[in-house]
Amino acid sequence: MNLTLKIWRQKNAQDQGSFATYAVRDISPDMSFLEMMDVLNEQLIAQGVEPVVFDHDCREGICGMCSMFINGEAHGPDRGVTTCQLHMRKFKDGDTITVEPWRAKAFPVVRDLMVDRSAFDRVIQAGGYISVNTMGNLPDANATPIEKHDADAAFDAATCIGCR
Ligand code: FES
Repeated sequence: MNLTLKIWRQKNAQDQGSFATYAVRDISPDMSFLEMMDVLNEQLIAQGVEPVVFDHDCREGICGMCSMFINGEAHGPDRGVTTCQLHMRKFKDGDTITVEPWRAKAFPVVRDLMVDRSAFDRVIQAGGYISVNTMGNLPDANATPIEKHDADAAFDAATCIGCR
């Protein structure tokens, strides 16, 4: 797939920021959105241009760090998935994709697509949360006897981080 990306670039919180337009070529539909962003950044680095800063961590749909506004939607066009689990097959060859940071007064842009999330820390520090026992009265999984064959198979599966 060949795509046009309109990406929010902003040097720091004081900078006005603006959209920059980039073309990326030969994007596989099986790539995740973040892998496509990696391709863009490798291209920018090769051209001597500052890569686009964006948040990510696990890339497995667990941590919630990969916040982006894609074509005006939180996490893009897929439903119930984080940006790192959004795949390029959700787009069409020739598409123009607009990528913005999460714009909110409480989350000022640090740089490009990265925002300051310390507002969450202040909410927690102020006691703005509750603790809920979501496990109810279920037995502790670690206390449940498991056949060795099944336990070994589960361990093998758990050691895979899904990197392919
Ligand atoms: S990078 Fe962790 S959920 Fe996307």
